[in-house]
Amino acid sequence: INPTQNLKNLVSYPLGVAVNPRLLHENESYRKIVASEFTGLTAENHMKMALIHPEANRFDFSQADDIVSFAQAHQQRMHGHTLVWHNQTATWMKEFQGDQKAWEDMLKNHIQTVVKHFKGKVKGWDVVNEAFLDDGSLRPNIWSDHIPDYLAKSFIWAHEADPDALLFYNDYGQDGKPKKMQAILHVVEDFKRRQIPIHGLGLQMHISILSKNEQLKEVIQQATATGLQIHFSELDVAVNPQNISDYQYDEPSKKEQIQKYELLFQAFEKVPMAQRYGITFWNVGDQDSWLRGYFKRPKEYPLLFDENYLRKPAYQALFQTLDKV
Ligand code: G3I
Repeated sequence: INPTQNLKNLVSYPLGVAVNPRLLHENESYRKIVASEFTGLTAENHMKMALIHPEANRFDFSQADDIVSFAQAHQQRMHGHTLVWHNQTATWMKEFQGDQKAWEDMLKNHIQTVVKHFKGKVKGWDVVNEAFLDDGSLRPNIWSDHIPDYLAKSFIWAHEADPDALLFYNDYGQDGKPKKMQAILHVVEDFKRRQIPIHGLGLQMHISILSKNEQLKEVIQQATATGLQIHFSELDVAVNPQNISDYQYDEPSKKEQIQKYELLFQAFEKVPMAQRYGITFWNVGDQDSWLRGYFKRPKEYPLLFDENYLRKPAYQALFQTLDKV
């Protein structure tokens, strides 16, 4: 395909990517590809508690602000990730001492300071991230330990701070985990009944070539049936989930990866237009992928751009598919 033609121009919704401000600053190829290929940004790490609120009385918005400025300069929609999570909490939060009221004040202050700071600049927030275990039970963490009904309270506090922001519940691995999905759908129903604001569901979509097509489709249908905004919020398709050390990224595996990408993009086209918040990739080029670092899996090639930020066959194939839609 002609290099002046982009995937982003073939879709009716923002095509986003999770970014790292250091790479945006240091690496020109990375910066160019983020600017030219995507219409939405998410901070991979820099809006999370540990980074944005490193001490009880100090917020550090510098890096997140850089990302927001980049998005504004390139007319990209900014998505906020994430206000409340069990992971990447600040050390001072883990050590926090206080009664329920003190914990609530602490979390409310965190949420509202962050949301107000980005008011008008961030379109939607992952308010709570990954609150459920695979068996559908509430994940035990510092928030559930100290604040009863912390999910609902978090959404209410976020809504107070920016009534125009779209509020998402975000989670991973719902496919093949019906109890986890049921728990999420139950939150949506419960919030609707209690008139607690929730506007969207983030399906992270950290999938692999071993993911089951029917299970993926079912989860997308169930999420869509809520009527809420749908965000494929952290998309990547792992080719080497078993971390085989001499793994070959050969033609058959490239083809399987392409089929997964096509399946998800085609499924997203079936979501009613008004519910399509967007699709966001989790990282830019294969070497930037969290899968390589986090799982120490050097032979992983989950994204649409290669080590040189060149479009991979998966990009080309997806372009051809969407061009026909
Ligand atoms: O910045 C520190 C560095 O100072 C320190 O020396 C080094 C030593 O471990 O750690 C660095 O922090 C790392 C951080 O990424 C920034 O690179 C953390 O160790 C590392 O754990 C952290 O990983 C992030 C992970 O969330 C944490 O769980 C990944 O980059 C990020 O891609 C990943 O993103 C999550 C989403 O937020 C939620 N859904 C799942 C997704 C993938 O795990």
